Parts: sequence; structure tokens; C-alpha cells
Amino acid sequence: MYIIFLGAPGAGKGTQAANAARQLNLVHLATGDLFRQALEQGTALGLQAKSYMEKGTLVPDEITIRMVLERISAPDLKSRVVFDGFPRNRKQAEALDKALAGQGKAIDKVMYINVSEKELVRRLSGRWSCHKCQTPYHITDAPPKIQGRCDRCGGELYQRSDDTAEAVKRRLQVYFAETTPLIDYYSRSNKLVEIDGEGEVAEVTERLIAAIAGEKSVPVRQKWA
Ligand code: AP5
Repeated sequence: MYIIFLGAPGAGKGTQAANAARQLNLVHLATGDLFRQALEQGTALGLQAKSYMEKGTLVPDEITIRMVLERISAPDLKSRVVFDGFPRNRKQAEALDKALAGQGKAIDKVMYINVSEKELVRRLSGRWSCHKCQTPYHITDAPPKIQGRCDRCGGELYQRSDDTAEAVKRRLQVYFAETTPLIDYYSRSNKLVEIDGEGEVAEVTERLIAAIAGEKSVPVRQKWA
């Protein structure tokens, strides 16, 4: 099963992909998390990604695609993946389709998590993330049990440097220009399922799990494969 969680910055891709991965036994593959981990570890990949991330622009496709294709060829993925933050433009989507087709596989569904712009900005300005495991929290909507500490691993919480007002504005511009064309790309292959991303986290998770499990929008080609 290969599922993509598509949506704007702050739509809840990371939050929901982690929940779906736990409930459906999928591997959660988040390109933003992989870049941030590389940055923390001071690797060459992290240094390459740093300036783009700080500005809120996309890391070049060659770097991102290579990183993802390496990761999906790892044996531990066992063909059960939820992609979070990838693909983010047409070139990345085509590279993913081609790589999976080469292994006789394909994306099953693309869950488009739709959230209003006002709510996106509200969420990002109140987000705190774990340094160690990247779990996102929100100061009012999803606070940690102990202030400043991650519920899951006890790691220290911090505010991402790309959650400043200026970087958020840029990230939203990049999303509308480069990523929203993927809505059409995946609609055409009948893989897109739109989900209302507003409401309690648990409610949105329920909607997503039901839609992933639902037969309704599974393309006929796959139903009968
Ligand atoms: P990335 O880390 O992927 O950031 P993003 O796509 O901008 O998404 P976010 O992580 O900001 O938001 P999210 O949708 O995951 O929301 P979350 O669950 O955290 O990418 C960062 C950078 O890396 C990019 O700008 C780029 O430079 C680079 N990059 C990454 N992938 C790339 C690629 N493929 N190609 C090139 N470059 C790439 O939730 C947000 C907040 O809302 C949290 O506080 C959360 O607690 C809260 N929240 C979540 N759900 C709800 C809810 N239902 N109600 C209330 N609050 C909620």
C-alpha cells in the first residue's frame, strides 16, 4: 500500500500521517523530517537543504528525489508507506510513479487534506515540534502533557525556524504555485480523495482512515487487479 498525504504547510500531514502509520502499520516517510534530521546530524544532505528550508522554498528536485528513491528501495519499507510532504511538484510525482512502476507497484491513493488559509497560519504560528522525534504539538490545540517536553520520547520542544511569519508566507506561495497542480495530476488518474482537514485531530484521523479503507474511490483497475 502506497498512500500520499497531500496538503498545504500546516494542513496536518505530519500529525495525520503518524496516526495513520500507527493504525494501519505503514512506514511514515516525511521528507521534511528527513531533511531536519540530516541538518541536526550536520550531514552533507542537511547542509545542502538548510538554506532552502530556512527560506521556505523547495530543496532542489535532484537532491529530494534521490533521497526518497534511496529510502523506498530499503527492505524495511515492505511496500507499506505513507508519504508526507512528497511529492511536492510534478517532477517529483513523475519520478515516484516511474520508480514504483519499475518495481511493478503504484500509488494507491492520494489523500488531499484541505484546510483554509486562515487556519493554516493559526496552526503554524502555534506549533512546537520535538527536536528528537519531530512530533508536532500546538500550544492550544495539541499541547504536550509536560510543557516543553515531548509526550512520546521526552525530547525538547522547539519552534521551527521556517514557522516565522515571513517563511510561512513564502511556503504558502510555493505550495500554491508548485504543489497544487498535483491535485489535478492525481485526480486525472482517479486516485485523489479530498478530506476536510478541519476539526479535532482524532476526527480528521477517523475521516482519513475511513476514506483509505473505503472502496468507493479505489480505481477499477486496482479493484480487479
Ligand atoms: P515539511 O516539514 O514537509 O513542511 P510542510 O509541508 O510545510 O508541512 P508542515 O510540517 O509545516 O505541516 P503539516 O501539514 O505536516 O502539519 P502538522 O501536522 O505539523 O517541509 C519543510 C521544508 O522542507 C520545506 O519548506 C522544504 O524546504 C523542504 N522539503 C520538504 N519536503 C520537500 C520536497 N518534497 N521537495 C522539496 N523540498 C522539500 O500540523 C501543523 C500544526 O497544526 C501543529 O502544531 C499541529 O499540532 C496542529 N494541528 C494538526 N492538526 C490539527 C487539527 N486538526 N486541529 C488543530 N490543530 C492541528
